Amino acid sequence: AKIALITGGYTGEAEVSFKSSAFVYSQLDHEKYDVYPITISKGAWFYTDKDGQQHPVLRESFTLPLHGETINFDLAFIMVHGVPGEDGRLQSYFDLLDIPYTSCDALTSALTMNKGYTKAILSDIPELYLAKSVLLFESQRAEAVSTVESNLSLPYFVKPNAGGSSIGMTKVKESAQLQEAIDKAFDAENTGKQVIVEEFVTGREFSEGIFRNAKGELVVLPATEVRTTREFFDFEAKYVPGLTEEITPADLSVEQRERAARILKEIYVRLNCKGMVRVDFFLENGTDKFYFIEINTIPGQTAQSFIPQQVRAFGMKEGDFYGELIESALQ
Ligand code: DAL
Ligand code: MG
Repeated sequence: AKIALITGGYTGEAEVSFKSSAFVYSQLDHEKYDVYPITISKGAWFYTDKDGQQHPVLRESFTLPLHGETINFDLAFIMVHGVPGEDGRLQSYFDLLDIPYTSCDALTSALTMNKGYTKAILSDIPELYLAKSVLLFESQRAEAVSTVESNLSLPYFVKPNAGGSSIGMTKVKESAQLQEAIDKAFDAENTGKQVIVEEFVTGREFSEGIFRNAKGELVVLPATEVRTTREFFDFEAKYVPGLTEEITPADLSVEQRERAARILKEIYVRLNCKGMVRVDFFLENGTDKFYFIEINTIPGQTAQSFIPQQVRAFGMKEGDFYGELIESALQ
């Protein structure tokens, strides 16, 4: 099969996408799959060949003229984090062109890119808790600080509502920092001009993947616990090796593991997910409640990322895992 491995994107997460796609490329079975890395950037869409030469991709048909021939792709392996690969735009485009892809569909992608709207859908899942939050729209920017202060208690997490990798995010410990944090989140590039502010949950942080295999079964991966020496699991902590201790499989009791698996399956089914997704949680100190942080429908696949760690801990080779995603999407 001819696979277009899509990378790049329009946000600050493009650099993460390049690392994710390079890792996926390095792990895929190249005897079985003909893999074409294709970069999607604001200015240009192009295939980069093994010699580093760039060849433009035709956007009206998503085909690749190459050495006098035209390559048609059997599948798009979408590895673009954020806009336009995680928010439904590429998914809609490939739907119109009848090209299958590895990720969630357009509706689920668009919905889950919006943290606030996603929380509304997940609000009544048994055993899953949601941190108290407010969603701020651009038109309410002038009153944002007073809205937050009259609804929530410190400390807060302030985030672009449709961002990733903690870009534009601040942990706010005192009122005086709130305005600046809100401005930073509103001004993060390509994140939809909405901001979500959540009350901080004190507890342990986990991240856990789930995917549908080629047989159609839902498979829950082992969870990862994140322990960072930084104020929170920010961009540096995520991608600079050594700043964070990541324990896979996480040290959870059997009951906690089973509870997390039930929650993950319920989230996957309710949001009509496809392929692999990863959910981030806090486990609150004292109460032992799982709090939803967010769902990632194009989870990072850098060599340091959680899903590759979890796949290895599960006893699977990364290349076989990516092969399962391809076979499942081609059905
Ligand atoms: N948004 C990043 C890539 C992740 O969730 O892994
Ligand atoms: Mg994320």
